[in-house]
Amino acid sequence: MKSPKIYVAGHRGMVGSAIIRMLQTSGYNNIITRTHAELDLCNQQSVSHFFQEEKPDQVYLAAAKVGGIYANNTFPAEFIYENLMIEANVIHQAFSSGVKKLLFLGSSCIYPKMAEQPMSEEALLTGQLESTNEPYAIAKIAGIKLCESYNRQYSSSHGIDYRSVMPTNLYGPGDNYHPENSHVIPGLIRRFHEAKVNSSHEVKIWGSGTPKREFLFVDDMAQASIFVMNLDKSIYDKNTQAMLSHINVGFGDDLSILDLAKTIAKVVGYSGVIKLDPTKPDGTQRKLMKSTRLKEMGWSPKVPLEEGLMIAYKEFLMRQSFSSC
Ligand SMILES: NC(=O)c1ccc[n+]([C@@H]2O[C@H](COP(=O)([O-])OP(=O)(O)OC[C@H]3O[C@@H](n4cnc5c(N)ncnc54)[C@H](OP(=O)(O)O)[C@@H]3O)[C@@H](O)[C@H]2O)c1
Repeated sequence: MKSPKIYVAGHRGMVGSAIIRMLQTSGYNNIITRTHAELDLCNQQSVSHFFQEEKPDQVYLAAAKVGGIYANNTFPAEFIYENLMIEANVIHQAFSSGVKKLLFLGSSCIYPKMAEQPMSEEALLTGQLESTNEPYAIAKIAGIKLCESYNRQYSSSHGIDYRSVMPTNLYGPGDNYHPENSHVIPGLIRRFHEAKVNSSHEVKIWGSGTPKREFLFVDDMAQASIFVMNLDKSIYDKNTQAMLSHINVGFGDDLSILDLAKTIAKVVGYSGVIKLDPTKPDGTQRKLMKSTRLKEMGWSPKVPLEEGLMIAYKEFLMRQSFSSC
């Protein structure tokens, strides 16, 4: 069978690169990409030109301006503007050039701060968002609504089918290990690794260690993305609604930050003391996604946390050895 022509936007990012790996493993061999330098997705004319030239059949939209609390708080204008522009340009130009299937990647931060746990798709737009990343979350919500609105207006006349997935916290190869600006798993991997190398006796963890978080290995996320993109329309329609169409992608289980730290210490081989610092803020006590919608459609994650962490640590070590060459 001829492979569809697939454009993966954001292919150098953690998720985009995992989607490429999974597509290639699954036998798709007609994949197109552009780096940020080659194609700025905020530029309407360039995006229009790209789509009219290439005319892909499918699009995975994994490009976004992404960052932690500090970056979101410091650059709120960039976070809302760039993400809105990327989504509006890619989704509209994909439609204009005849793309029938598109998958938009959102985030669990679309849900209200006080959403009932575990957070189901129905929690969308039922309350106030977390203020630190509100601009980013609003842009992600707009991405879902763009997909839904184009489907509602054009699916019968143009046969388009644009879908959205909302991943929980992801980790794995390609993650950002920046000492100040990384998420919890890459941050802890780096700190335990450095503590091991420097024979430090203790590693301090912010807060009480009791808040619980959910983590999904990025290859599982990539597989879920390909699964949702290719899911039979009748099954997709049966499990979603025209104006509530996004799909949560979670691991289905969470663990405390202290248990996460202990697991990472074990994977890294650090045998010193893990010390809590309860004077530092804890954040939300629990953030777990309800992923039954996706489960009922036939997909579940495969990679257990410890196994995923071992793969992530191996890749971290490889990058360390390359950067010291
Ligand atoms: N990582 C997570 O834990 C997580 C959790 C939930 C949801 N997600 C979602 O998954 C998606 C991908 O995340 P990720 O972790 O893979 O992020 P990432 O590693 O930062 O990758 C994002 C990619 O988008 C590209 N990009 C940004 N602005 C662009 C522009 N104007 N034009 C062209 N390319 C641009 C970046 O290129 P440059 O680096 O060259 O700018 C980068 O390659 C995002 O939508 C994110 O919200 C991620």
